[in-house]
Amino acid sequence: CAPELIVLDEAGSTNDELADRAAVEALPPYTALVTAHQTAGRGRRDRGWSTPAGRGLAISVLLPSPPPGEAAWLPLAAGLAMRDSVAALLPHSDVNVKWPNDVLVGERKVCGVLGRLTAQGVVMGAGVNVRLRADELPVPTATSLVLAGAADGPDLDDRLLAGYLARITELVGGLLERGAEASGLRLAVTAACGTLGREVRVELPGGSEFRGRAVAIAPDARLVVRTASGDESVAAGDVVHVRP
Ligand code: BTN
Repeated sequence: CAPELIVLDEAGSTNDELADRAAVEALPPYTALVTAHQTAGRGRRDRGWSTPAGRGLAISVLLPSPPPGEAAWLPLAAGLAMRDSVAALLPHSDVNVKWPNDVLVGERKVCGVLGRLTAQGVVMGAGVNVRLRADELPVPTATSLVLAGAADGPDLDDRLLAGYLARITELVGGLLERGAEASGLRLAVTAACGTLGREVRVELPGGSEFRGRAVAIAPDARLVVRTASGDESVAAGDVVHVRP
């Protein structure tokens, strides 16, 4: 049956709220839960994520679980879907994905994505800085849609959301039916990925790090980083773009 769209005036974490609801009621795949005021948002590496009332948008979507071999593509599909939705709202096209799924305008982050595996599927959360002012940005390397040139108006959130939901449904549908290769997902992610060709520093979960040049996205969604001692493929860890 058709996906539901649940809009809340306020939520703690949309990821937690959607996961909790999915655990107690049968929600159709691609059901989305959205708020413009998230009070306890979570980011990667136990960081928080701020969505001040009316200035950001927090979106969580219940995605069907793909076969184990394709599961690593879901976060990249989410990042690409948001990149495309953001790009359609800006007067220029300098919108790219920092592997695996941060959406950047130029060098500045406008959206972060965080997934959560549940028994009902993958709850994929995206937080977008919609109309944060410069003095509200959490870090100097962030930006918002409006600061980046999007026309502000009452329909900005709706256009962002509609573009994102249509695209993520299309991309994940293709992934489930045909896989990342045949559906063109790997090609599309590769084309949108601003990390490729860059010098990067990879900070691994254990605390170690290494440097190299990002050269490809492998068939298993890993980032291939060329180092002096050979190619490494990265599945987890934070990738930092080193300025050229
Ligand atoms: C990051 O650290 O870059 C990821 C941030 C992810 C934030 C989103 S907002 C919607 C969803 N709900 C959460 O609590 N987190 C994610």
